[in-house]
Amino acid sequence: MKGTSCEIAVLQHVDEMMAFSTKCRNEGRTIGFVPTMGALHEGHLSLIAKAKAECDVVICSIFVNPTQFNDPKDLLLYPRTEDADIELLKSAGCDLVFVPSVAGMYPAGQEVQDYDFGTLTSEWEGQYRPGHFNGVITIVKRLFEIVLPHKSFFGKKDFQQFSVIREWVKRFEVDVEIVGCDTVRASSGLALSSRNKRLSNEQVILATAFSKALIFLQENKQINDVKALIEEASELFIEKEQIQLQYFTIANSETLEPLENISDVKHQVALIAGFIGGVRLIDELELN
Ligand code: PAF
Repeated sequence: MKGTSCEIAVLQHVDEMMAFSTKCRNEGRTIGFVPTMGALHEGHLSLIAKAKAECDVVICSIFVNPTQFNDPKDLLLYPRTEDADIELLKSAGCDLVFVPSVAGMYPAGQEVQDYDFGTLTSEWEGQYRPGHFNGVITIVKRLFEIVLPHKSFFGKKDFQQFSVIREWVKRFEVDVEIVGCDTVRASSGLALSSRNKRLSNEQVILATAFSKALIFLQENKQINDVKALIEEASELFIEKEQIQLQYFTIANSETLEPLENISDVKHQVALIAGFIGGVRLIDELELN
């Protein structure tokens, strides 16, 4: 136990974490789990709030998982604000924070597994961040085996991550309910993200182009022809020198396959990713 207050416990060791969760389960208490990489913001706190509303005990993990970063510089620059995070979790009413070490999460023999779910893992983030989802699923699997949650809560800002984890749980019959939670936005529309902490004030304003472009798609989806719609939104909001767009698409929200026409499927999601001032941002909007 690293430090316990009357309001929140902080555990570092895998054995202690498992013992706590086993005890909760034996007492018949449901465990809600919010896995994070720290640098917490209102988006994470909305996941804690949902977990609190649906479960007896809420556990949050903070672990910057090295195996899901394909760019070593991104890993190095990832914001780390553990003390402030724990304070935020305490005020949000989270019961326990798990802050394991790299050695604890990746003991000898703990390999990163390969997962191939077709388009779900190969397109979009899969294309631009090779190996990313292997790292994500590997760590989420290990965390689930330690934290033993009944339900786990994921933000839909990382829509593809949420879809991939939902698919993994389905395919591998993992007995954890995956709950997707709406993206939380600043009043400007900018999706809250830990990486926003690395943007200058000017870049924060520029970054609102992503949510504006997504809203344009939402408001003009009667155009139906996805290529024409994306071109128009790009011209209006994205074609600026300081934005290096990686992808901007409308996909089937179940399979994440790109669509030619909005009307091809019942549920569509718009996905966007790119760099602003060297910081990689992603955003999503379900169109119906
Ligand atoms: O979304 C994140 O913060 C991470 O990808 C997760 C799910 C905590 C796994 O490291």
